[in-house]
Amino acid sequence: MNRLPIVAGNWKMHKSIAEARALVEGLKPRIAGLAGVEVVVCPPYTAIAAVREAAAGSGIALGAQDVFWKEKGAYTSQVAPGMLVDAGCRYVIIGHSENRGRFGVPEPEMTEALCRWFGETDESVNAKTKAALAAGLVPIVCVGETLEDRRAGRTDAVIAAQVERGLAGLSAGQVAGLVVAYEPVWAIGTGETCDTPEADRVCGVIRGVLAAGFGDGAAGSARIQYGGSVKPGNARELFSQPHIDGGLVGGASLESDSFAQIVRAAVP
Ligand code: 13P
Repeated sequence: MNRLPIVAGNWKMHKSIAEARALVEGLKPRIAGLAGVEVVVCPPYTAIAAVREAAAGSGIALGAQDVFWKEKGAYTSQVAPGMLVDAGCRYVIIGHSENRGRFGVPEPEMTEALCRWFGETDESVNAKTKAALAAGLVPIVCVGETLEDRRAGRTDAVIAAQVERGLAGLSAGQVAGLVVAYEPVWAIGTGETCDTPEADRVCGVIRGVLAAGFGDGAAGSARIQYGGSVKPGNARELFSQPHIDGGLVGGASLESDSFAQIVRAAVP
């Protein structure tokens, strides 16, 4: 199955409007005319409009970092799927570990009570994914185990449960168009990458769960990214694995040169 690699920059809570514009302007010439890879940037909500303008005509697609599952209503602070479409987004990240209250770099002030405020669960991931699909967005559904999960030998079970619950009730056709991002929590922002064979193995586990739930066709079409300390120096090796179809990049997507190098590494 020939899957088009997809490299997405998750800017997280970084970049002012002017900085966002400058980053896209720096990125454009560095990836101009590049074929064989889909490029997505996911700025904070406040910079989406500016990035849309700066990226116009460049082939760089726009994504958001989260979405709510309702179309409209009294949900202060939330953003509806249709609003993201209206703002020019094609993609949306759903279920990032940081929204599940799990941080790669230990943050002492993030007590359990504060983490609960983020509130993301497999159930909310499922509701958001369905709503995003209904609005015509492409969800990038994030899954990943913590260091504690890994040490306890439950990586595969945790990942399988996140995929099954997060995608419950979807059709095979919907799953075929999905992007799933495997992001081991302990590798996010830590500089520690999951070693390549293991990253590919877990992405293969995800593909197996998709096949069992939705059939081989859907599993063969869905794209699975690796995320967690992807850098120019490790991207090519990671992206050349059979089950890894590109990456979800945090820190290294905040600078045009490093992100462009990572994008180029996804082109076979
Ligand atoms: P880093 O690339 O900074 O480790 O972040 C990965 C990530 O969380 C992308 O969503």
